[in-house]
Amino acid sequence: MPYRPDNRYYNIINPIRNFAGCLGGLSPMAYLLPIELGETNMLDMTGKVAIVAGAGSVGAAGSAIWGNGKATAVLLARKGAAVFLLDINEEAMAETKAIIESEGGTCAIHRCDMMVAADVQEMVQACVDRFKRIDILVNNVGGSAPGDPVSMSEEVWDRQIDFNLKTAFLGCKYVLPVMVEQGKGAIVNIASVAGMRNDFRSGRSHVGYSASKAGVIQLSRSVAGTYAKKGVRVNTVVPGLMHTPLVEYRLARTVGGNDPQKLIDARNEAVPMGHMGDSMDVAHAVLFLVSDEARFITATEIVVDGGSTAFMP
Ligand SMILES: NC(=O)c1ccc[n+]([C@@H]2O[C@H](COP(=O)([O-])OP(=O)(O)OC[C@H]3O[C@@H](n4cnc5c(N)ncnc54)[C@H](O)[C@@H]3O)[C@@H](O)[C@H]2O)c1
Repeated sequence: MPYRPDNRYYNIINPIRNFAGCLGGLSPMAYLLPIELGETNMLDMTGKVAIVAGAGSVGAAGSAIWGNGKATAVLLARKGAAVFLLDINEEAMAETKAIIESEGGTCAIHRCDMMVAADVQEMVQACVDRFKRIDILVNNVGGSAPGDPVSMSEEVWDRQIDFNLKTAFLGCKYVLPVMVEQGKGAIVNIASVAGMRNDFRSGRSHVGYSASKAGVIQLSRSVAGTYAKKGVRVNTVVPGLMHTPLVEYRLARTVGGNDPQKLIDARNEAVPMGHMGDSMDVAHAVLFLVSDEARFITATEIVVDGGSTAFMP
C-alpha cells in the first residue's frame, strides 16, 4: 500500500493558513503555520526500471541475513520498481527473484560477470529489450581481500581493483548512454568505510580494497560532474560494519579464528551505536538516493556506519 499521510490536521490548518495569507503576504501568522503537505507517496518507484548488480548473496540459501544487493533489489521491488537482477551466481539471484515474485513484485534475472565488458554491454541491452528503459543502476559488486603491499600478490591487487572499481566503471560505461538518451537516471555505487579511513588498531590491512573503494567514491563524483547537466545523478553509499552473510561465510574464517559469535560481538562492540547495521540499512540509503525526492543530490555520499567513521581515532 502506498504511504498516505494523515491529512486531518491539514484540513483544519489550511483554512486558517489561507485566511492568514489573505491578510497580506508578509503576515507573520502565515509563516508560523506549516506548509501544506497534501498527498504524498514518498520514495515511490512505480514505473521505474532498476538494475542491481550483485543481486544474489553469498552464504547459505534461505538465510534470513541478506547481502546488500539482495536487500536493495527486494526493497526497490517493494516500492514498485521493475528490477533487473544480475549476478554470476544463478542460484543466488534466483532466490532473490523468488522473494520478489512471492511479494507480487516484478523482476528478471540475467547472468553477468560485471568484470567482463562484453557481459556488461550485453546485459544492458538485455535489460532495455526486456523493460524498455533503465532508470536506476546500483553497482554493488565487490568484496575485500587481506594484505598490504608486501604481502599482497600483484594478481590479488589487480583482481581487487577489477572486482571493486572496474565493475562500477563498466556499469556506468554501458548504462550512461541509455540514461542520457532518456534525459534522466540515477546511479548509486556501493563503496565502504575502508575507502575513507584506516583502522590501524586492528593490525589488519586490505590495501587493494581500501584503494579501490576510495576510487569508487571519486569515480562517482567524477561521473556525476560530467553528467549533471544531462539529467543523470551519481552518488555513493558507504557502508560500515554490517551484519551480512559475509561475516559468517568468510570473515569468521579469514579474520575471526573460526568463531563467528566472537567476531560478531567484536564488530558490534566496535560501532559507536553498539551494533552492526544490516543490509536493509544500506538498501534504504540507496532507495533514497535513487528516488525523485533526492532530485537535487548528486556527487555525494551517504555513510551508513552507525557513527564509526566520525568517531574513529
Ligand atoms: N558486507 C559488509 O559488511 C560490507 C561492508 C561495506 C561494504 N560492503 C560492500 O557491499 C557490497 C556487497 O557486499 P555484500 O557482502 O553485501 O554482498 P555479497 O558478497 O553477499 O553479495 C554480492 C553478490 O555479488 C555477486 N558477484 C560477485 N562477483 C560478481 C561479478 N563479477 N559479477 C556479478 N556478480 C558478482 C556474488 O555472487 C554475490 O551474490 C560490496 O561492494 C561490498 O564491498 C559490504
